[in-house]
Amino acid sequence: MALVDDILEAEYRTDKIKVHGPEDFEGMRKAGRLAAECLDMLVPHVVPGVSTAELDRLAREFVLDHGALPACLFYRGYSHTLCISPNHVVCHGIPGERTLREGDIANIDVTVVVDGWHGDTSRMYGVGEVAPKSRRLVDITYEALERGLAMVKPGVRLGDIGHAIQSYVESMRCSVVRDFCGHGVGKVFHDSPNILHFGHPGTGEVLKEGMFFTVEPMVNLGKHQVKLLNDGWTAVTRDKSLSAQCEHSVGVTATGCELFTASPAGLFKPAIQGA
Ligand code: MF3
Ligand code: CO
Ligand code: CO
Repeated sequence: MALVDDILEAEYRTDKIKVHGPEDFEGMRKAGRLAAECLDMLVPHVVPGVSTAELDRLAREFVLDHGALPACLFYRGYSHTLCISPNHVVCHGIPGERTLREGDIANIDVTVVVDGWHGDTSRMYGVGEVAPKSRRLVDITYEALERGLAMVKPGVRLGDIGHAIQSYVESMRCSVVRDFCGHGVGKVFHDSPNILHFGHPGTGEVLKEGMFFTVEPMVNLGKHQVKLLNDGWTAVTRDKSLSAQCEHSVGVTATGCELFTASPAGLFKPAIQGA
């Protein structure tokens, strides 16, 4: 997700929100599908004891074997295919020797480039048996994304999406992260507009058919504040509360939106084992 005040990528990023035609939808379908298939492929590998570096290696090989490129590999000094964000990590967790443990919940985020188009998606994974409070947070996060996406159609405004997400999450006594947001997506990885996961109805840009963007709410069990670790990437909750996220890349259609990153195997929403 982009930093809210993100001004890099300025060369390619344009303030004017791009509107795409049928061939562009086809490009995003291919990229989105491969990104979703990569996350599907990882499901049986997310088990107690696996290192996050091993999951990253599996994803990198999968993407390269399919003739695509991992968008994050050379992205502003980042040198991995995945972001893996367990427990109180909000986003941009760096793969490494750390192993996942029974009871962890983790977001895995991948972006692939196919014929220049970016497919960007993330999901939650449960490691072994997961506690009820973690499962509840994951369920709320998925419901928040669904409520945001249910708003999408021409004429609706960005604030309507943010408000649908925020009002639901807060009604469940959780909080929405403010410091990271969704983004326009397409030939540019992080394009305008910023897609805030909070806001006021009837405000912000008006959606038009052919716009492409991500919706990727981060939801915390505690307060919304985050802090960045010294590695310059990893964002964690300030109060160490659990955080969850899920992300789709979508295109606005005449009547709603098309999910480019739907899981072909039906695994977008994880079957988390209960404790
Ligand atoms: N995939 C993330 C997003 O949803 C971006 C990760 S950038 C990285 O926008 F460099 F941290 F990998
Ligand atoms: Co994104
Ligand atoms: Co992403």
